[in-house]
Amino acid sequence: MPSYAFLNERLVDPERVRRKMNVLGFPYTQEDISALAGKSEMDAIVAYMQKLGNDIPWRQAAAQAAAPQDLVNPFHGDPEAAAQGASLYARHCAACHGAELGGGIGPALMPGWDDADLFTVIYEGIPEGGMPGFSSLGVERVWLMVTFLQEQQ
Ligand code: HEC
Repeated sequence: MPSYAFLNERLVDPERVRRKMNVLGFPYTQEDISALAGKSEMDAIVAYMQKLGNDIPWRQAAAQAAAPQDLVNPFHGDPEAAAQGASLYARHCAACHGAELGGGIGPALMPGWDDADLFTVIYEGIPEGGMPGFSSLGVERVWLMVTFLQEQQ
């Protein structure tokens, strides 16, 4: 028997938890509090560990990796945005696609894409083909790179 088995016997006091949440300013619903009835401190610790696990930033990034629906390039044709996109490209893409887009580890980047498709490929990547997704850079930086690539056509 582990030495912390006593946590299984101690029940959580929902009313005390509710007061704590108020003091700390954490959000909760009445259902959250009701759900604590009959739960032990061990349950509470497990729930806490699970919450921490799901709050890890890369987990959230993975959950958000699907490209947003509303795919309109806010920078379309903007030369300043294209210049910013160029330096992002140099930092994040050139090692695989070549400084001049001629390819290398990844294929040469050819013209003929529309903004939305290009955005989706860069944001989500092509995991099975070895193209990483760049959702972690955020929507705006991906659009800046799209703007740069479109300017190269
Ligand atoms: C680790 C290497 C690597 C990096 C870094 C990388 N790519 Fe790729 N990329 C690939 C590979 C490999 C493919 C081909 C995947 C396939 O088609 O299966 C690819 C495919 C693509 C395609 C589709 C090309 C086509 O004609 O089908 C685009 C567009 C693209 N990458 C853009 C980018 C951009 C923009 C960046 C930087 C944000 C980037 N890639 C970073 C490896 C990389």
